[in-house]
Amino acid sequence: MGESYRLEVQNLTRRLGGREIVRDLSLQVAAGQVTCLLGPSGCGKSTTLRMIAGVDRPDAGRVLVEGAEVSGPGMFVPPEARNIGLMFQDFALFPHLTVARNVGFGLPRGAARGRVEELLERVGLAGHAGKYPHELSGGEQQRVALARALAPKPRVMLMDEPFSGLDMRLRDDIRDQTLSVLKEEGTAVLLVTHEPDEAMRMADEIALMREGEIVQHGAPYTIYNNPVDRKAAAFFSDINVLRGKVEGALTETAFGTFLAPGVPDGQEVEIVIRPQHLTIDLDRAGRGPNPTESHGMPARGVVERARFMGRESLVELKMDHDGAVLRATIPSVFLPKPGTVLWLTIRRDRCFLFPVRTK
Ligand SMILES: Nc1ncnc2c1ncn2[C@@H]1O[C@H](COP(=O)(O)OP(=O)(O)OP(=O)(O)O)[C@@H](O)[C@H]1O
Ligand SMILES: [Mg+2]
Repeated sequence: MGESYRLEVQNLTRRLGGREIVRDLSLQVAAGQVTCLLGPSGCGKSTTLRMIAGVDRPDAGRVLVEGAEVSGPGMFVPPEARNIGLMFQDFALFPHLTVARNVGFGLPRGAARGRVEELLERVGLAGHAGKYPHELSGGEQQRVALARALAPKPRVMLMDEPFSGLDMRLRDDIRDQTLSVLKEEGTAVLLVTHEPDEAMRMADEIALMREGEIVQHGAPYTIYNNPVDRKAAAFFSDINVLRGKVEGALTETAFGTFLAPGVPDGQEVEIVIRPQHLTIDLDRAGRGPNPTESHGMPARGVVERARFMGRESLVELKMDHDGAVLRATIPSVFLPKPGTVLWLTIRRDRCFLFPVRTK
């Protein structure tokens, strides 16, 4: 174990203020890979990054860079000797130094010049070497900070919400550019974010974190399409939840029968479905569509609200059978009026069924 990963974190735990902020956390990042540590505010992402960087000491667990232990019981390599690059949200450049000198700051004198030129070229700032930070836009400053972090060719790069200071339109471009530079350099990247969209855009792997622990780990596609639980599904988008009880590995609902393989009789379950996977039958408003195997039975609801969202419309329907409100998205050419009666069906291949945990 260990050798094939650039960064390996084993069972890290950190207690602060009488609480376990990070608990038994393990992850690996290979060369040229971006792993996103994704989770809500306060779940322990920055604390994890600080321990890996060596600016904070874990209470338990180990950190390995290229198979060599840099942190563990009786072992502590100082941050500057870990071969780890850092980039944080406030990536403060030195205001009194030029762009070139900012980038070359951590390099030995002789080595600096060629490397600085190469990196400025790569981040698209070749013509700005002699400028000072205040002469640059936010996005340009961010790219200087990236070049500076990459200059000493770190084996591992830790990034903590590095794009959150940028405005939205700029952010997408900078993210993509940053990603391609990191890939070219072959650095192993651990990127912290609380934005699912950012994680899906950047990551080869997402480690979904909650209350100090990683609850799911996998490619963005897998995490989005096979969430471990209701909360994991809800972290990525709005969701609708139906309740049911299992009998003979089946659950009956107003939308017909759902399969519940392996779930014991009498178990309460939640069926989770994203708004884009509820199908509204717009054409046959009065009669409702026929039941099908893939979409189950239609259920009737009345439009409470419909909002135009640009690419789509978000429709909230109060369901006849239980009065609950469900949300569905439909193409934005449609904007049904409140009071309109519509029929809904649920795509069976797009819903998730989870046992309700009673703690
Ligand atoms: N030195 C400390 N003493 C006590 N509690 C701390 C300390 N540092 C952090 N915490 C707590 O640990 C929890 C996790 O903090 P952390 O900064 O790791 O969260 P985060 O996931 O990075 O959140 P955000 O997305 O808001 O940056 C928070 O509840 C925070 O208040
Ligand atoms: Mg943080």
